[in-house]
Amino acid sequence: MFDSFPSPWSLLKLGTQLLLVSPLRSVSDEWASLNKTLGGRLQRGIPFAQPCFLSALTPSSANYSAQCTEIQERNEDHLFRSESFGSYELTQWETCEATGEQCSIDWQNPQNSAAFSPPRECKQGSVPSYYIEVKEPNDVRAAYAFTQRTKIPLVIKNTGHDYFGRSAGPGTLALWTRNLDKLVLDKNFVPEGCSSDATTALTIGAGQHFRAIYDFSRANNVTFVAGADPSVGASGGWVMGGGHGALSPAFGLGVDRVLQFKIVTPDGQYRTVNKCQNEDLFFALRGGGGGTFGVVLESSFIASPQVTVQAVLGMYNSTRENTVKLVKELAKGAVQLAADGWGGYITPSLSSAVWANPLLSLADAEKSAASVIAAFKAVGGETVFYTMETFTDFFDTFIAPNTDPVGRPQVLASRLIPSDKFEDDVLIESMINGMLDSDFSQILAVAPYGFKDYDKYGTSIHPAWRTSVWHSLMSYFSNFDSTLDDRMEQYAKLTRLWTTVREHTPNSGVYMNEADIYEPDYKTAFWGPHHDRLLEIKKKYDPHHILDCWRCVGWKGVNDDRYKCYPRKDTTATPEVEDAKDYKEL
Ligand SMILES: Cc1cc2nc3c(=O)[nH]c(=O)nc-3n(C[C@H](O)[C@H](O)[C@H](O)COP(=O)(O)OP(=O)(O)OC[C@H]3O[C@@H](n4cnc5c(N)ncnc54)[C@H](O)[C@@H]3O)c2cc1C
Ligand SMILES: *[C@@H]1O[C@H](CO)[C@@H](O)[C@H](O)[C@H]1NC(C)=O
Ligand SMILES: *[C@@H]1O[C@H](CO)[C@@H](O)[C@H](O)[C@H]1NC(C)=O
Ligand SMILES: *[C@@H]1O[C@H](CO)[C@@H](O)[C@H](O)[C@H]1NC(C)=O
Ligand SMILES: *[C@@H]1O[C@H](CO)[C@@H](O)[C@H](O)[C@H]1NC(C)=O
Repeated sequence: MFDSFPSPWSLLKLGTQLLLVSPLRSVSDEWASLNKTLGGRLQRGIPFAQPCFLSALTPSSANYSAQCTEIQERNEDHLFRSESFGSYELTQWETCEATGEQCSIDWQNPQNSAAFSPPRECKQGSVPSYYIEVKEPNDVRAAYAFTQRTKIPLVIKNTGHDYFGRSAGPGTLALWTRNLDKLVLDKNFVPEGCSSDATTALTIGAGQHFRAIYDFSRANNVTFVAGADPSVGASGGWVMGGGHGALSPAFGLGVDRVLQFKIVTPDGQYRTVNKCQNEDLFFALRGGGGGTFGVVLESSFIASPQVTVQAVLGMYNSTRENTVKLVKELAKGAVQLAADGWGGYITPSLSSAVWANPLLSLADAEKSAASVIAAFKAVGGETVFYTMETFTDFFDTFIAPNTDPVGRPQVLASRLIPSDKFEDDVLIESMINGMLDSDFSQILAVAPYGFKDYDKYGTSIHPAWRTSVWHSLMSYFSNFDSTLDDRMEQYAKLTRLWTTVREHTPNSGVYMNEADIYEPDYKTAFWGPHHDRLLEIKKKYDPHHILDCWRCVGWKGVNDDRYKCYPRKDTTATPEVEDAKDYKEL
């Protein structure tokens, strides 16, 4: 069912380069030699649900059946998934969407054994063929050398939360950073090579996730700004793409709080990156995106003193009519709330919204959130205020029990809503209508609007983040056995339903980590004026294009085998032509 090494046929498909470079070496020799270099640590990428398929084939195996039961029970468990190499939180990235090859259970009914019984077979899909569990810079160097020699593409995988599938890829070698779990508090942290004053900082291994960081922060009386999920990693795609959380309106994004990265760049150098050395990379890693400039092994962030957090929870009967009215009312007070440091989430499917504020006393919080009280009153709902001792308590009470759905295929579209657009009724109305026509939607009040102490020229996130208040998203789920046509229709619906929102926010942007994989004019949408400088930095550090991912800086376009599982979408905007131009420059 699973061939051990790529067949000679796939060797031919790799093109002439491999054959020219080492005419006598087969692909399986290459893998074996890599394994030897690594002291036997090369591992096979096994699809997450494989034990279920094996249990159906060998019903007598108690082991497979026990493993399958755990997979069925924990299919939507964020942390369980992030700890399995062959799992992706958005499960279309375990599959080959373009061909339908997959190894998936039925997320709507995990007990449905027809999903994993013959004639269905467990197919590798986009799960990387092999992986290396990264322990040290030499592991990364070995992978770079392997990819340069063989042209077998390389991907970096951390927790597997990427919405673009950038941590997956058919026929690839993966570097898995998930087990780099350092977590160290330093009360006298000075970025290496700087002479600035010491600050309290948390140094976090590339694989360490929010759950552990929140617990560690509470235990050590510090506050860490991270996002709304237990299992996203802080030092991987999250921070490199921006990194928002409920504290961001008051305290900034991940990119505003990171002080230093340690990274292995594609030339094999292990570099320290901060405001005093490798400054160009410091700019690129603060918004340019993961998987692009090198492999980060750890990063250090500001750890603020522990703060008391005021919270307001609003609850209402979420009929469509009520939700439209509520959001219109909330829009009226949104800019002032963000300026006062409130961050939070409006989630129609939970019939609720919740905000946190680390700056105000309870009395001031009640005054500041008057518009929230009024908005919920207007739809017959109610609001309750809470005072939490730590942000981790806020996370445990309001976020962890209601995390976003995972363990299923999900596609989304989003938009940053600038502060000067909150009186544009057409915009607000088309936004909320688009959201409610989708399967899951949310307004994330997480832009760093109230945080003015940021490095003006130091980050490469879209500047619209600084002037925006809401990051709104809508999304669709698919059944495990949906057809390619069904899925293409969902991508098409995302585009259709979001057109007015895009047109009414012409100079705004999109969060590159939570976006439509077919976002029109994505370079402008993700990075605005910073794209060209990011491309220069990409050329400097990765001239041979060892790292490459879907619509990352320096993307070569769709015509590469590693993207063969992405469905092809006809667009009038022909981004492929544009991308081919960039490729020539590289
Ligand atoms: C359920 C859910 C909740 C989310 N909540 C939030 C939120 O609250 N706030 C927010 O800002 N975002 C959120 N996100 C989006 C999240 O930030 C992105 O999915 C992010 O890319 C995840 O990074 P990762 O490293 O954990 O995941 P991965 O999928 O493993 O990696 C993501 C990207 O980063 C690259 N990468 C990973 N590790 C490294 C490394 N060490 N060095 C170099 N490149 C690396 C990968 O190659 C890939 O391109 C959420 C996503 C999901 C699915
Ligand atoms: C790598 O080598 C080790 C030890 O020789 C072996 O156990 C392992 O199966 C090999 N890995 C792969 C992917 O073949
Ligand atoms: C069952 O599977 C687990 C995980 O693969 C393995 O570690 C264990 O040795 C297996 N047990 C038996 C009895 O085969
Ligand atoms: C955190 O603060 C509490 C209360 O002030 C104190 O008892 C505890 O020792 C502190 N913990 C650490 C690790 O500093
Ligand atoms: C919500 O509103 C609908 C329509 O008015 C009504 O039928 C339903 O009973 C309400 N639900 C609750 C929980 O109040």
